[in-house]
Amino acid sequence: MAVLITNIGELVTNDPERRDEGGLLGLVADAALVVDGSKVAWVGKAADAPAADQRYDAGGRAVLPGFVDSHSHLVFAGDRAQEFAARMAGEPYAAGGIRTTVAATRAATDEQLTAHVARHVAEMHRQGTTTVEIKSGYGLTVLDEARSLAVAQQFTDETTFLGAHVVPAEHADDPAGYVDLVTGPMLEAAAPYARWVDVFCETGAFDAEQARAVLAAGAAKGLRGRLHANQLGTGPGVQLAAELGLTAVDHCTYLDDADIAALRDSGTIATLLPGVEFSTRHPYPDARRLVDAGVRVALASDCNPGSSYTSSVPLCIALAVREMGLTPAEAVHAATAMGAQALDRDDVGVLAPGKRADFSLIDAPSHVHLAYRPGVPLVAGTWIGGRPIQHTG
Ligand code: NIG
Ligand code: FE
Repeated sequence: MAVLITNIGELVTNDPERRDEGGLLGLVADAALVVDGSKVAWVGKAADAPAADQRYDAGGRAVLPGFVDSHSHLVFAGDRAQEFAARMAGEPYAAGGIRTTVAATRAATDEQLTAHVARHVAEMHRQGTTTVEIKSGYGLTVLDEARSLAVAQQFTDETTFLGAHVVPAEHADDPAGYVDLVTGPMLEAAAPYARWVDVFCETGAFDAEQARAVLAAGAAKGLRGRLHANQLGTGPGVQLAAELGLTAVDHCTYLDDADIAALRDSGTIATLLPGVEFSTRHPYPDARRLVDAGVRVALASDCNPGSSYTSSVPLCIALAVREMGLTPAEAVHAATAMGAQALDRDDVGVLAPGKRADFSLIDAPSHVHLAYRPGVPLVAGTWIGGRPIQHTG
């Protein structure tokens, strides 16, 4: 059945073929969209729209591709509100806090973890996210990593094995032995549930050689690599990601000129996660410098209980505009089309015939309002695969 969404005041298509007229976002004013089943069938001016079985009036508001949140850690139990409060009172963020969540996650049942992920995914949908990547990384045993990914896989195809998140307390005296576990039995158990493999390459977590070993073992099992790198200070992770030609390297808060050149030359996407800097009081990454240097930039939430407990991509867009030098159009593009590219996906992040009908309707006349009206719940409806998830307006 075909549904016509019409009277769209501003449609963000992200279609490169519409850039001449519509700029980076391929904007179409006074637009309409036809959805057939799970796909977009037609995009254009409302006045030219074909007939359809059903009609939905967008009331002159803006429609944009659903956010593609390419980095989250939703499989966890408990929270770390006290750690956040201590940070806001002057304590530094430390990677070791991950172990607190590991203990809570191991103690949770599969049902509890599933319900917890479901609640957060619903929260994301309400805020316009239509694709989410979900990592393991708070289990850190063979069983707990595999079940974390089995839970995640109920909600997304974009699942990532992050056994190399931190060395768990019981292996504190033997990090090399833990890397052997991650690259051996843990990977073996996790791989059937994962599309990606990731490593937290940072002082206090894993070094470049350990990261290289985990990524190589994952690749041998058919998992694509990605990295957490240069979050808490400069380090080798970004260069490693570029050398390996990874699709994306995430955080990129502390970069030197050689890191930026390596990202530009490799085409590896720098996924920036401003919820982390908001919540850790680190300086925001300089997105303007990256874009001006020709680096491909994406934005994601990094939703996790330690460094960034927000599921809100609109918040990340507002921070990227206000604190990181992006224009509203660049920030929206980074959270949609570039998020899709950071997951090697060409079926989402763009609204054009043949693409998935994943989009949101905002209670505003243009995408600019996502940054201009920070903190306001503007998303009035979200459609995933052509089906409305929720409507409030
Ligand atoms: O992306 N950097 C590593 N992992 C998470 C933080 C996890 C935590 O603090 O629990 C991140 O920031
Ligand atoms: Fe993360």
